[in-house]
Amino acid sequence: MGYVMNSFNSPKITDPYLLKAIDLHKSYKIFSQTLHVLSGANLELKTGEMLGIIGASGVGKSTLLHVLGGLDRPEKGEILFRGDNICSKGSAYLEKFRNQKVGFVFQFFNLLSDFSALENAMFPALIARVNKIEAREQAEQILIQVGLKDRLHHKPGELSGGESQRVAIARAFMNKPDLLLADEPTGNLDQKASDSLIELIQLLNHKFQQTVVIVTHSQRIASKMNRVMELVGGELISVEKRAII
Ligand SMILES: Nc1ncnc2c1ncn2[C@@H]1O[C@H](COP(=O)(O)OP(=O)(O)OP(=O)(O)O)[C@@H](O)[C@H]1O
Ligand SMILES: [Mg+2]
Repeated sequence: MGYVMNSFNSPKITDPYLLKAIDLHKSYKIFSQTLHVLSGANLELKTGEMLGIIGASGVGKSTLLHVLGGLDRPEKGEILFRGDNICSKGSAYLEKFRNQKVGFVFQFFNLLSDFSALENAMFPALIARVNKIEAREQAEQILIQVGLKDRLHHKPGELSGGESQRVAIARAFMNKPDLLLADEPTGNLDQKASDSLIELIQLLNHKFQQTVVIVTHSQRIASKMNRVMELVGGELISVEKRAII
């Protein structure tokens, strides 16, 4: 806990955590079977840190990110975002939360195939009711920053995997979210493209002070994070970075 002076010069406690997830439970029901994916997962995320999440395929990493980002609700547990429990909020709040506080880079891009890179990147700003000219300028700026100056008008089908992933990252950063959740952002890239993508995320994290959670199968990428946790048996456990290098 740090202390800052407010306007009345009395100390006010500030919370260094952007997000705290407490005792998350999430399961899927298929016919009569229940698959428990999260069973008591806890996480404390400090503002500005970069956390890597590793874990075997099918263990529930994407599910965890969806729950943390308010895309899906846990059956039990709390997610405190700056102290507010997002799990107790209605869908209108969650929609705004996802649009303005969270940037999501999905495991399979989720770009809209009929729209150009520029239009895809503009969407979060348009949803946030930024006017079209401004949204276009912002999207252009960020696409240039991710190295796609010459691909603004290409549609996803006309982009390479790495370029599509850069568009997804540009889109995720559009509203300068407090939290970036990236699900295997380098999954189908070669080492060079993957390194430069992580450097880009690091640069944006540094520039905008964003908190970043990256799910990855790559030990190399996990080792570049400030901290690493493994999802195992529905719970998150800390992993010594030395153990994965
Ligand atoms: N909507 C759903 N309905 C039923 N089961 C689901 C659903 N989504 C995921 N699952 C199951 O839940 C488990 C966790 O899935 P999830 O996608 O979170 O795993 P993951 O750790 O991200 O895997 P990967 O590393 O392969 O991406 C898997 O066994 C999957 O089959
Ligand atoms: Mg996944």
